[in-house]
Amino acid sequence: MFKVPPISAERLPALLRAMPKAELHIHIEGSLEPELIFALAQRNAVALPYASVEALRSAYAFTNLQSFLDIYYAGASVLLHEQDFYDMARAYLVRAAHDNVLHAEIFFDPQTHTARGVAMETVINGLHRACQDARTELGISATLILCFLRHLSEESAFETLEQAQPFLDKIVGVGLDSSEVGHPPEKFARVFARCRELGLRLVAHAGEEGPPAYIWSALDVLKVERIDHGVQAVHDAALMQRLAQDRIALTVCPLSNHKLRVFPDLADHNLGKLLDAGLAATVNSDDPAYFGGYINDNFTQVFAATHLTAKHAYQLAFNSFEASFAGNADKRTWEHKLKETFERCVEHDY
Ligand code: HPA
Ligand code: ZN
Repeated sequence: MFKVPPISAERLPALLRAMPKAELHIHIEGSLEPELIFALAQRNAVALPYASVEALRSAYAFTNLQSFLDIYYAGASVLLHEQDFYDMARAYLVRAAHDNVLHAEIFFDPQTHTARGVAMETVINGLHRACQDARTELGISATLILCFLRHLSEESAFETLEQAQPFLDKIVGVGLDSSEVGHPPEKFARVFARCRELGLRLVAHAGEEGPPAYIWSALDVLKVERIDHGVQAVHDAALMQRLAQDRIALTVCPLSNHKLRVFPDLADHNLGKLLDAGLAATVNSDDPAYFGGYINDNFTQVFAATHLTAKHAYQLAFNSFEASFAGNADKRTWEHKLKETFERCVEHDY
């Protein structure tokens, strides 16, 4: 293992920004900035219940996950055409590249769009084209993960999978998101089993607001490879041991947890506890347009609030590459770049 050199607290924010990283938990609809929502509303003649960008932004005062989801789904109503999906993903990828993200695995919620009459093809083709262009024009690798909305039925999830079948070469895996409590992973056991047969990689949101039991069933019933959020695992010692032993990555989103009051005070965030228990935690932005920051803001703010160290920073970036669904050759290249960045930091090269 790489021996992390000593790095002073003053240099840590610059290192956090400069270090290469992968983002594994970003909902592309959650990257829609109010300015783009208004521009798309105008382009598509969609009426919005907000008079201005400022009025929309001032509605972003959340008390829990559901209070956020209500506004998040309303914001996505401006997306109608393939170019809209392209423009949204392009804007995110430009920002991600700026934050030294080398690889992004991007969630999208097709049911939010197909329910409004937008074709699956429109959604996937727009997002996929943005991912392809990002590779050549921004030097960032990007793949797509289709999420099923857990507040909807198993039948609706199966129907969504059916609609996505012609485009499976454009997605790397499937996930499970939306309202967690009351919608345990077991509800989607059969859909996930089918996705597994199709060769798709599997992840699920669990233990964001929901209990450790949901993390157990995501692992044992859905057979997921990563847990999105998973911060409630600290309440179950046996689960902590299982996650550490099996190197199950947690895609943690500090600013999201803060804004949705999972941790009302960011200083109380348990990211350090998870890492120190040997879990493969990563840092991600979740819904950056709604929670006040992209991936580097998540890193710098949670490090400042909880006094994490350069060693934690290295571990988080390393975990992000290891836990990604990229190939081994790419992982080794990215991990080499990571080491170089830490060495250059000591030499005060940036
Ligand atoms: N949790 C569940 N569903 C979501 C989230 C989240 O944080 N963001 C977008 N959909
Ligand atoms: Zn999420």
